Amino acid sequence: MCGIVGYVGRSSNGEHIGHNALDVVMEGLRRLEYRGYDSAGVAVLADGEISFRKKSGKLSNLITELDEHPLPESLTGIGHTRWATHGGPTDQNAHPHLADGGKLALIHNGIIENFAELKLELVRKGVTFLSETDTEVAAALLADIFRTKLNGDVSDGGLTKAMQLACQRLEGAFTLLAVHADQPDVVVAARRNSPLVVGLGDGENFLGSDVSGFIDYTRRAVELGQDQIVTITADTVEITDFFGAPAQGKEYHVDWDPESAEKGGFSSFMEKEIHDQPDAVAQTLLGRSDIHGKLTLDELRVDVELLKDIDKIIVLACGTSFYAGQVAKYALEHWCRIATEVELSHEFRYRDPIVDGNTLVVSISQSGETMDTLMAVRYAKEQGAKTLSICNTNGSTIPRESDAVLYTHAGPEIAVASTKAFLAQITAAYLLGLYLAQLRGNIFQGQIKDILADLGKIPAKIQRILENEEQIKELGRSMADAKSVLFLGRHVGFPVAMEGALKLKELAYIHAEGFAAGELKHGPIALIEEGQPVFVVVPSPRGRDSLHSKVVSNIQEVRARGAKTIVIAEEGDEAVKAYAEHVFYIPEAPTLLAPLLATVPLQIFALELAQAKGYDVDQPRNLAKSVTVE
Ligand code: AGP
Repeated sequence: MCGIVGYVGRSSNGEHIGHNALDVVMEGLRRLEYRGYDSAGVAVLADGEISFRKKSGKLSNLITELDEHPLPESLTGIGHTRWATHGGPTDQNAHPHLADGGKLALIHNGIIENFAELKLELVRKGVTFLSETDTEVAAALLADIFRTKLNGDVSDGGLTKAMQLACQRLEGAFTLLAVHADQPDVVVAARRNSPLVVGLGDGENFLGSDVSGFIDYTRRAVELGQDQIVTITADTVEITDFFGAPAQGKEYHVDWDPESAEKGGFSSFMEKEIHDQPDAVAQTLLGRSDIHGKLTLDELRVDVELLKDIDKIIVLACGTSFYAGQVAKYALEHWCRIATEVELSHEFRYRDPIVDGNTLVVSISQSGETMDTLMAVRYAKEQGAKTLSICNTNGSTIPRESDAVLYTHAGPEIAVASTKAFLAQITAAYLLGLYLAQLRGNIFQGQIKDILADLGKIPAKIQRILENEEQIKELGRSMADAKSVLFLGRHVGFPVAMEGALKLKELAYIHAEGFAAGELKHGPIALIEEGQPVFVVVPSPRGRDSLHSKVVSNIQEVRARGAKTIVIAEEGDEAVKAYAEHVFYIPEAPTLLAPLLATVPLQIFALELAQAKGYDVDQPRNLAKSVTVE
């Protein structure tokens, strides 16, 4: 999830009639900074060569660098704000990456799944690499093809043809933008499983990872399709597929104002990020298993023998991340047969926990800066535990201080209330569990392959829920005056209920409480009175019937006492209808994967209710995105 901008303007008799490329690119990066802000860089073409600047940290660091070391005026430029996946947020890993002796510059959004094998092939050809990124490998591949297959000849669209051939070799998700010093009035771009739009100007053309990249200059846009390549000059836009066959993009007019363009047209970052969730899960899965269904988590960089000796897992987290850990516990214990405890980070080190060299402490943190979790990880390390971080922010403190890291690839989460990071955390925890089960032989490879196949279907199922969200939105609006809402769940539905309650608390400032459905009769049922809204997360009737029938009984118990029951149930589950005021159906999924679906209606409900109350859903009162104090 990076910000990408490209520009080609036109001069007439040496006179600029377009804009200065750097100005356009920097304005676009400023608008795209929400897509990634751990480093940024620009490259411009002038006087037959490529000039570039790139800096880690916020865009302001690049601006300072440019003030101190200005770039020449230019008609052609590309720019990038990074959300790191491969390689930490350093100057060296920032984009653009150069190749072909500094004559080619490339920027990239996405994940090149086969970068390791391509890198090996290029190293054998004598290529040396400066960074840890998959992007630099793509740049070197493009340069190698340009030299060996096109003889470095730009005359007949050489860079475009090189890009076509390179894309035929790349696997994964990528938006690529490339410029070459020998072709100073051209930007060539490609996209697969990652967004790219063209902005059509008058005597100038633009490229952006979304329309925010050029909305200040034009509102005429062309959306590129899958596996397409576009070559822009000041006056032309040519689109082909990866094999050179001409293709068409879909032109449209951008109606959004710049502010809403940054939110992808949604009313808030919170709503945008709820709708980013199919991609957040898909990107987190990407590149982490092979075609045989074998997990390939080489990035963990942990001696697998150590992992085989683990006899206890302790998950440390706070808030929503803690609920992700609670969901993960069911899968870790079921698949790996390793005793798994899930602890609130701020409680962990004060309870004198039992930790030793065979304990794997898994911290879960979106920001990687939560002080409670950081301190708990440090304590666990002092006790001799192995530590592994599941984190969404590359290069942040907790992964840096952990023995291993498994990054979620949800992209930057701007809204304070966590949504897409939550689903990505659960996905990453499932990958870890399957990886441990694979190492230890707890489950057959075929079963792992089946589970991965089920996980691979989740993004489309989330998308289906989002496409039918109006029913739950309407319910949210209708309940804006609710004073208290209860949430019930059982098994993996219990942490989902807790997360649903937290979303409502932190967005709508309403008292909400999540319970284990079986716990109701031990006290909380006294809270039920006429009209009390109760959400119930119902497990699949196709799973262990005992779970389903018991939860249906719980619905009857509360309904008999006057509760207004709102049920989240699996498509086709008719048994719940008799006891529910409202039923919101979600697609079928194996029990352990159901939280990735059941959570989504609860997020939408909380968002809609909070918006109906007129609250700021991106910046709720009293909250911070990263709690860096104990
Ligand atoms: C979630 O909606 C909250 N914003 C909060 O509970 C958050 O999950 C918690 O503070 C942990 O943050 P982290 O994932 O960055 O460690």
